[in-house]
Amino acid sequence: MSRKNQELNASQTTLDAMIMDGTTMKSGSVAAIRRIKNAIGVARAVLEHTTHTMLAGDFATDFALCNGFVTENLTTLDSAASCAEWKAGNCQPNYRINVTPDPASSCGPYTPISLNSSSEEYASKLRGRESPEGHDTISMIALHGSGTMAAGTSTNGASRKVPGRVGDGPITGSGSYVDGDVGGCGATGDGDIMMRFCE
Ligand code: GLY
Repeated sequence: MSRKNQELNASQTTLDAMIMDGTTMKSGSVAAIRRIKNAIGVARAVLEHTTHTMLAGDFATDFALCNGFVTENLTTLDSAASCAEWKAGNCQPNYRINVTPDPASSCGPYTPISLNSSSEEYASKLRGRESPEGHDTISMIALHGSGTMAAGTSTNGASRKVPGRVGDGPITGSGSYVDGDVGGCGATGDGDIMMRFCE
C-alpha cells in the first residue's frame, strides 16, 4: 500500500460498539468499524442475526452493508482540522513508546527499539507520557417496563489512537454488562487501562 493510502486509512474514524440482552445473555459487537455511523445498530444486527459476539474491521463494514446500513464519510470539517493541527504539532501527544524516532517529539514513521529496560523503567515510561485528550464513550443500561434489561456502549475509542486500536467498549463485560436478574453496569474512561482488569 502506498504511503498516501496508509495515511488516508490511518486518519479515518473507527468506531467500537456493543449491545447486550440481559434476558438471553447474548451480546453483539463491532470493533474498529469504518464508514458506518450507526455502529451500535450494526452491533445489534450481530446480536440478532448471528450466533457470533464480535465482528471487526472492514469485514464488519461489509456485514453492515449486507444488513441494510449505508456507508458514509465520518470525517467532519472539525475533525479534519483537529487532525491537521495535531500533525502540525509533531503528533503530540500520542500513544507510542519504545520506538525511534522519539515519539515525544516526532510523528514517525516509527521503528521499535529493543526492550532491555527493567519492568520498573518500563512502568515509568508508561507513566511519563502525556495522554491525548479524552474520548466520547457512552454506556447505557436500559430497563423496560416489563422488567427486561439491556446494556450498550458506543465510542470512537481514543482520539489520536494508533490505527487498529480497540478499547474496552466492544468487549462484553468490559464496556458494559447486564444480567436481567441482577442489574447492569457500564464504563467510560481509559479503556486501555480498564480492559486489563475485571470490572
Ligand atoms: N472507554 C473507551 C475506550 O477507551 O475505548
